[in-house]
This record gives sequence, structure tokens and C-alpha cells, in this order.
Amino acid sequence: MDIFEIEGPVRLEGEIEVAGSKNSTLPIMAAMILPGGVSTIPNAPYLADIASFETLLESMGARVERTADGALQIDSGPLDRPVGDYDIVRKIRASICILGPLLARFGKARVSMPGGCAIGDRPVDIHLRGLRALGARIHLEQGYIVAEAPAGGLVGTQIFLGGPFGTTVLGTDNVMMAAVLAKGTTVIESAACEPEVADLANCLNAMGAKISGIGSPRLVIEGVRHLNPVSYSVIGDRIEAGTFMAAAAITRGCLRIRNCPIHQMLAVTDRLRHIGLTVEEGPGECTVRYEGQLLPADITTQPYPGFPTDLQAQFMALLALAKGNSVITEKIFPDRFMHVAELNRMAAHLRKEGSSVIVEGVEKLIGAPVMASDLRASAALVLAGMAAHGLTTVQRVYHIDRGYEKIEEKLNRVGAKIKRLAV
Ligand code: EPU
Repeated sequence: MDIFEIEGPVRLEGEIEVAGSKNSTLPIMAAMILPGGVSTIPNAPYLADIASFETLLESMGARVERTADGALQIDSGPLDRPVGDYDIVRKIRASICILGPLLARFGKARVSMPGGCAIGDRPVDIHLRGLRALGARIHLEQGYIVAEAPAGGLVGTQIFLGGPFGTTVLGTDNVMMAAVLAKGTTVIESAACEPEVADLANCLNAMGAKISGIGSPRLVIEGVRHLNPVSYSVIGDRIEAGTFMAAAAITRGCLRIRNCPIHQMLAVTDRLRHIGLTVEEGPGECTVRYEGQLLPADITTQPYPGFPTDLQAQFMALLALAKGNSVITEKIFPDRFMHVAELNRMAAHLRKEGSSVIVEGVEKLIGAPVMASDLRASAALVLAGMAAHGLTTVQRVYHIDRGYEKIEEKLNRVGAKIKRLAV
């Protein structure tokens, strides 16, 4: 198992490149089940989660490979086993979004029910409610979701996907992918508006689907009889980009971030400017520069276009060094605070109160051995380690490899001192 040894403090400066979006690539890989045939994603990132999803598709009979130029190629023609096995689904929760496409293409699916994870319970009740509304019969059998379409196939209808927390990203994906081949028109109300959902919808339209209202909470889907394989490039990863923005800020440095979906990051750049950073925007890129101060800021995570929960931990690490007190409130996953105790081991002053954390800014963080608990929490620990005085050792680095492509190599090229060690 790898660990990171991080020497700090460092000041980051230079250019850094953002990879294709993980959370676009995963559902788009699921969408490639739909047409049968060879589809490609030219810019799919190299990540552990993507590799797990490849294994899932292969376990169902698809052929998956990386071409010589790095594109991810999926041949779903031979896919003939509409089953998501427990051993793979438990490793990657996004596996749940094979349910909609399998049901649409095969009229049946058997997918392991995902369990909870470090960031919360993560139920899938709304996914199932949406699929049932399209006519699917669904029951649970030995931990598996067993779904079957009615004899004549799924039928379009009006579906409400809201809940007490807002809406659901992968739930919207699942229902949308089932509805594209359903008979008649489906209207999804309270659909997730995240750019990754819009990316999936655009990919489905490139396959021949008829989806309108993309990017809005009301998606209208006219069912079509069949879809065609495609080659589709995903958007840049706004969470990786936001992590690099926080890295520039916490190290009091300056980073030019390329392939940055800056127009999808208004809530993030708003908070950065409030904290005292300069953010210069260019086409597909931005430059974040420290200007001699880190001011406190209150942050509340919300569905898009609000501040993303996937950057909450990284901004907590940053605000731990601000001059004053900040309040961070988590509205998407109220228990997503495993990083709080670890950051406190590095001399941060963080106090959890319900689904908020009071961040009392300190002058400096001090290196310490810490444990990564989930993907974004581990990114926060890497950021803190680069700013902290002395040596920080991050255990369980496999969490970060799930969602960041060669993060230590990218950060080391702009001034970080991170060693990956196999222990
Ligand atoms: N929820 C329900 N019932 C459902 C579905 C969701 O109660 O049927 C609740 C969840 O418990 C949560 C809220 O709804 O409180 C929102 O969850 P959502 O379904 O939107 O999350 P997700 O689709 O499972 C995706 C991302 C997450 C990201 C969230 C929120 C992927 C592969 N995952 O998860 O990304 O945090 O949306 O934006 O796209 C990450 O990349 O680190 C990550 C966790």
C-alpha cells in the first residue's frame, strides 16, 4: 500500500493541466452500454475508479481497451450479461448507473445494491423510484437490485427526482439513460444540473437521443428506437481544477491552470476572491495568485451551481490558515467530515457542530502522520501537507488515486516535495 511523504512548506508556481472529468467519464462509460458497438472517450483520465469501471464492463462481456493514443475504447457489442457483481460494485459506487442502460437495452438487470461509504449512507431510493415510474418492476434479492421492464419495454412519463437534500446526480443519469430508449416522452422534473449530467446528456444526443433542457432542472426526453456508438470527449474535471486552485492559495503561490472549465466554477472563484486571491480567467484556463493575505469565508455546499461538496474538504484545509473564523456547512452529505480530526492532528483548529464546522484560522500547520479516509479528504490532507511545517505522511493513498491522475507528479512539477513510497 502506497503512502505519501510530503515536505513543507512549499510555494507552488507554474502551469498545471487538468485531466478529463472522472464524474463525467463514469456515467458516459455506462451510457456506452446502450448502442452496442465500439464507442470511444479520447480523453478519459487514467484513474483507479475508471479501471474499476472497465473491470465491471468486462465482467458483463464488453471488450475494453486503451488505444495507442490513450483513448478509452469500449465495445459493448458482445456485452450479454446484464449483471453488476457485488465484488466490483462495492469498490465503486458509480456502478449503480449501469442499472438504467442495462434495463433499457436488455429489459432486465441485476445489480448489487451499493453499501454506505466514508462520506455517508448514500441511498439509491430515488434512482429506483424514477425507474419504477418508467414501468420497471424492481425488487431486492440477496443484496441485489433485480429490475425488469414491462413486456412492451419502458414507457415515458413525468418523473420528480427531488428530495429533502435537493436532487441526485447519478439518479438523474440513471433515469435519463433508461428514458432515452423508452416509448414516448419522459419529463424529468428536479433533475440535477451538474455539468457532468449535461455532459452525459450531450453524449447521449451525439448517439442519437433526443434530450432537451440540458443543464436545467427540467429534462425532456423523447424516446428513440436505437442509438449509435460515438466518439465523445468529456469536459475538464472541475473538482481537480478546484483542488489546484486551493493548492495555489494554501501554498501562497501562483498557478496557471489549463483545461480548466472555469465557466462552471463561479461559486468556487467567488469564494477564492473573497478569501483574497486573484483569479484571472482566460479561455479554458485560469491563473490563481496569492496576494499577501488569506481571509476567512463562510462556505455552504449546495447542488450546482452552488459550491460543490467535492471541494469542501480542500477549502477547509485552506481556511484553516485564514486570518479569522470561517463556518463551513455541508448540505449534500452532512457527515462528510472525516478529514476534520486528521487536519486537527496537523494543528488546525476545527470544531464540528452538526453539519457545520467552525474553522478558527491558525498561523501555521505542523506536519504529522495522517490517514486518508476518502478521495476528497485525502486531497485536503495533501494540500495541508504542502503548507505545513515539517514532514506529513499520508496513509491510504489509494483513495486519492481513485480520482486524481498522478497528483504527486503534477504537483512536484510546480514545486511540491511529495514522495510516493510503497510500504
Ligand atoms: N440521495 C438519496 N437518495 C438517492 C440518491 C441520493 O437520498 O436515491 C441523497 C444522498 O444521500 C445525498 C444527496 O442525495 O445526500 C446527493 O447525492 P447524489 O445522488 O447527488 O450523489 P451521487 O450521484 O451518488 C455524485 C458524485 C459525487 C458527488 C455527488 C454530489 C459521481 C460518480 N459521484 O454522487 O462525487 O459528491 O454527486 O455532487 O458522479 C467524488 O467525486 O468524490 C464524489 C463523491
